[in-house]
Amino acid sequence: MPPSLDELETLARQAGEILRDGYGQEHTIQHKGVTDLVTEVDHRSEELIIRTIRQAYPNHRILTEESGDLQGDADHCWYTDPLDGTLNYAHSLPLFCVSLAYAEGQQAVLGAVYDPMRDEMFSAEKGKGAWLNGQPIHVSATPDLIHSLLATGFPYDLWKSPLNNLEFFNHFTQRTQGVRRLGSAALDLCYVASGRLDGFWEIRLNAWDIAAGGLIVQEAGGVVSQLFGQPHHLTPPVSVLAANPAIYPLMLDVLRLP
Ligand code: IPD
Ligand code: CA
Ligand code: CA
Repeated sequence: MPPSLDELETLARQAGEILRDGYGQEHTIQHKGVTDLVTEVDHRSEELIIRTIRQAYPNHRILTEESGDLQGDADHCWYTDPLDGTLNYAHSLPLFCVSLAYAEGQQAVLGAVYDPMRDEMFSAEKGKGAWLNGQPIHVSATPDLIHSLLATGFPYDLWKSPLNNLEFFNHFTQRTQGVRRLGSAALDLCYVASGRLDGFWEIRLNAWDIAAGGLIVQEAGGVVSQLFGQPHHLTPPVSVLAANPAIYPLMLDVLRLP
């Protein structure tokens, strides 16, 4: 039995309450890298997510950010990010979310992204549409780059890796109304889906960052691929380009500049 979208939304909301309760408090910070942090709240949220999925679907595989790959039937796989935007969270910057996707055979079919500070639930079901708090959402109709607002993100090792996205940031900043760096890839995608942003790109993400948001963009009428147009997939390493159908080819042209 597959889960229902209602179940994903309920679980994302419950995990979101844990984030909201801990927001603005002092946190125990562990460093996975110099700028890659994890707090006790990430762990608390993840424990709830794993426990709930395991109880209802003991045979499903669960890909988790903090507890690794919990083996199960790979044709029924959950991609879970208990707190997307940990760096924001650790600084009490209210831009973060819970992101949950359920995939059949590597293809996300259900997605829920919950922002507990704004009480915004973005969700989608493959072939059925995308919603914000139950209301249908659609990507923007912005026709060209010069009228567009984009977002991106940077890898945690940007200061030591030549593949750091700064050149693309430079190109887009000179061709658009602006490029935001919000710090939560899942919310970036949901903002493209709901037309708040016209496009988003990022390199070297994890599948749990984009599994739910990618489906939400597609179901909202947007185009999602890897950075240079290769098909969107959830096997690492993942990069993502997501935009409304008019902006998408224009962003691809810029990304393909030498
Ligand atoms: C991060 C956020 C950020 C993106 C990073 C991700 P985390 O997730 O989505 O926007 O730039 O690459 O790792 O670590 O806060 O779950
Ligand atoms: Ca994340
Ligand atoms: Ca996370």
